[in-house]
Amino acid sequence: MDTTPLLDPKAFRAALGSFATGVTVITTRAADGTPVGLTANSFNSVSLDPPMVLWSLAKKSLSLPVFSASRHWAVHVLAAEQEALSGRFARSGEDKFSGLEIEAGLGGVPLLSGCAARFQCRSSFQHEGGDHLIFVGEVTAFDRAERAPLVFHAGQYALAAQRDPRLPQARSARVAGGLGEDLLGYLLGRAYFQFHLGVRDKAQAAGLTEVQWIVAAALTVRDGVTSADLDAALGYVLDVPVTPLLKAMQSSDWVHLDAAGHWRLTDSGRDRSLHLLAAAKAHEGDLLARFGYNEGALLKLQLQKFIAVTNPGLPDLWHEV
Ligand SMILES: Cc1cc2nc3c(=O)[nH]c(=O)nc-3n(C[C@H](O)[C@H](O)[C@H](O)COP(=O)(O)O)c2cc1C
Repeated sequence: MDTTPLLDPKAFRAALGSFATGVTVITTRAADGTPVGLTANSFNSVSLDPPMVLWSLAKKSLSLPVFSASRHWAVHVLAAEQEALSGRFARSGEDKFSGLEIEAGLGGVPLLSGCAARFQCRSSFQHEGGDHLIFVGEVTAFDRAERAPLVFHAGQYALAAQRDPRLPQARSARVAGGLGEDLLGYLLGRAYFQFHLGVRDKAQAAGLTEVQWIVAAALTVRDGVTSADLDAALGYVLDVPVTPLLKAMQSSDWVHLDAAGHWRLTDSGRDRSLHLLAAAKAHEGDLLARFGYNEGALLKLQLQKFIAVTNPGLPDLWHEV
């Protein structure tokens, strides 16, 4: 008999991976009371009335005997921050529940917290599905929280961004010189300007220019540095030397130069700087709250990636002064 597979298994897996899914952890309790669970992305909805869902379990899974015998199981749709939980439940056999806070659901099924949604189910059918067993269950209870979901795509964890139907998909309006409004430099510059609108007034009211505010913020994190160190650390956010800025700040009692030649915030400078940092953090919170759906975290992730990819070898602002 010719056993050559009709499909290339690696290519087949890769093609299946193009289907982006959420990530779930499915739990149940063994007859002896042991909690059992595994990570699964084969979860899907089946029916609204009656409410039914399905997922499939590899026949080689150690959990198979327990799930086959269980009358109840629960599906936890993981939130974006629960990647570590997914990793924990994807490792075969270990004590996956150790240290986790669990509550008992219907049929004593262990329920995990912090998820985007949970479905408690009565096991209805089990179907053969090649090297998997398909479990169909009727949902007897569910709950849900406003949390962005964890996504799995092409074999990797991902985060979801929601399209905003009020925004055009691609701003391609042309301006003079053939530059578009989707030019990255324009977007980054404008985003920086608009972010700082909410902080600049407060810094000005405290007697600082925008660049002096950057110096004060840096000293709040790492006090007692030479001008040369500050120049090196801030070189990629400031294009002016720091010494004249520090001297001007010295005359308004923000900073002082110690005997060893290190610049330090004065007590009053530190106090004012901490207030400004708190205001900046609150401003950030207000702005990111307008995104909802965890997109603030997504934006930061993309900016961190962008900074890493485009870094020409600049020192780390906070760690290498
Ligand atoms: C994102 C992701 C999705 C997974 N989906 C499934 C799945 O749908 N069904 C399955 O049987 N295993 C799936 N796995 C693999 C199991 O989580 C893994 O084999 C686990 O170790 C099984 O645990 P057990 O052997 O203790 O039962 C998935 C793993 C990951 C990381």
